[in-house]
Amino acid sequence: MSTQNDTNAPFQGAPDWQQRYDENSTRWERGELNPAFVHWQEAGAFEGIKSVIIPGCGRSPEPLAFARLGAQVTALDFAPTAVTAQKDTFQKAGLNARIEEADVLAWQPQKQVDAVYDQTCLCALTPAVWPDYADQIHRWLNPGGRAFMLFMQTGKEGGPPFHSPLETMHGLFDDARWQWPDTPLYRSDHANGKYELGAVLIRR
Ligand SMILES: C[S@@+](CC[C@H](N)C(=O)[O-])C[C@H]1O[C@@H](n2cnc3c(N)ncnc32)[C@H](O)[C@@H]1O
Repeated sequence: MSTQNDTNAPFQGAPDWQQRYDENSTRWERGELNPAFVHWQEAGAFEGIKSVIIPGCGRSPEPLAFARLGAQVTALDFAPTAVTAQKDTFQKAGLNARIEEADVLAWQPQKQVDAVYDQTCLCALTPAVWPDYADQIHRWLNPGGRAFMLFMQTGKEGGPPFHSPLETMHGLFDDARWQWPDTPLYRSDHANGKYELGAVLIRR
């Protein structure tokens, strides 16, 4: 059987995400908008965003929600099931988006965008490639663009999802390239017992 380990995965030991969809082993899915998304929307944090990249989009509802807010959406995932699901969702809604089967560590946009929305994509990647991924997000954004980051907190070793301690995140998204919020991060609890800390980082 051909897997992402054969084709797309940039490192040995990467989980076969397509297999997880095939086996319906997708406990990360909430089946509704992430409370952090709702919080940010209500707080006006999405205002002025005309274009957004959603890496590792899975089958999540946030790409469509961004499109409904009027943003031009680019949704990326290397699992074919995720891509097909997003395409179906957009087709049913009669809305357009760029939905691509792609490796977030290699893909490049034609032009920079106003926002990146990372909902548990970083924690799906092995920490060894986090610096490359953080570089990608920086590269994708316009200066002044916003990275909506949901940093997974598991408190455990191993993954995915990989625990994303704030100290490590501050090192990855360093002050020279990013402005961090001076308010507390938004805590987004999940029924599976894990939680994420949501931060809006401004690309310098
Ligand atoms: C934990 S799931 C989160 C999915 C979605 N964001 C959500 O909230 O439901 C991680 C997703 O990232 C995708 N993914 C992991 N590594 C990737 C990579 N290198 N390039 C593209 N997609 C990747 C997986 O296929 C999976 O759909």
